[in-house]
Amino acid sequence: MKTINGIDDMMQASASLRSEKLRIAFVPTMGFLHEGHLSLVREGKKRGDKVVVSIFINPMQFDEQADLQAYPVSFKRDTDRLEAEGVDILFAPQISEIYPEGFQTSVALSRLSKGLCGDSRPGHFTGVATIVAKLFNIIRPDIAIFGEKDYQQLALIRQMVHDLSFAIDIVGMPIVREADGLAMSSRNSRLKKGDRTAALSLYRALKKGADMFRSGERSVEAVIRAAKGELDSSIALDYIEIRDPLTLEILKTVNKDALFAIAAKLGDVRLIDNIILQEN
Ligand code: PAF
Repeated sequence: MKTINGIDDMMQASASLRSEKLRIAFVPTMGFLHEGHLSLVREGKKRGDKVVVSIFINPMQFDEQADLQAYPVSFKRDTDRLEAEGVDILFAPQISEIYPEGFQTSVALSRLSKGLCGDSRPGHFTGVATIVAKLFNIIRPDIAIFGEKDYQQLALIRQMVHDLSFAIDIVGMPIVREADGLAMSSRNSRLKKGDRTAALSLYRALKKGADMFRSGERSVEAVIRAAKGELDSSIALDYIEIRDPLTLEILKTVNKDALFAIAAKLGDVRLIDNIILQEN
């Protein structure tokens, strides 16, 4: 695996792959890689001829300085894992390379960045869209792969790719869970022991709602009330909502597949999870 830190070098490397007619699959990450990330890399290996992974902790998408400071880093372990997966190029730029003095451009989505995580994390999705657009321009992949745990992020990136005519196939991959059901996240490593147990109630709540939906309940209010009953009393709930899976608009009744999403804080760790409500 080749590690590249500079934008010009990365642009040259991907131009050379393109000139050989090789399809580039791209997996953007902020590092501290877990099985969820590796599932994206494996999908990239299936769909592309060459796989590029980026590791960049993007300061622009952190709405709280403390969250940025506490974000876990394990560069050596990450590179070993990517090497073992057969990744071709790791793009790992410094902050000053991505955001040099004078940087002043941002990519903002007016509707999809509102609601859900957008309300409690002001500026977060502008930070995400800006860095992803910049990485797309540098790497110019054919395919880019994202996890469905960050459902709103994935919806927003699909929209941005459509609106700005990026010729990139966006692929969403299912949430990878720990054996006990907790959705994998780099932030899980920061959970205190008791909070780790309480965190399991997030998925329990989603599953309760999904069970009710399957057994015929169509009232959003009833599904959410029952799901809330599963939540551990120690968690600080940010939202639990049922929305249209494509537009992310709020639903009052669920007559078709729907996104059931939750976000909560356990201590100072913010976790998100979701499930798709489906009849079968
Ligand atoms: O999902 C993430 O890890 C980040 O939001 C991303 C897409 C790498 C952009 O920084």
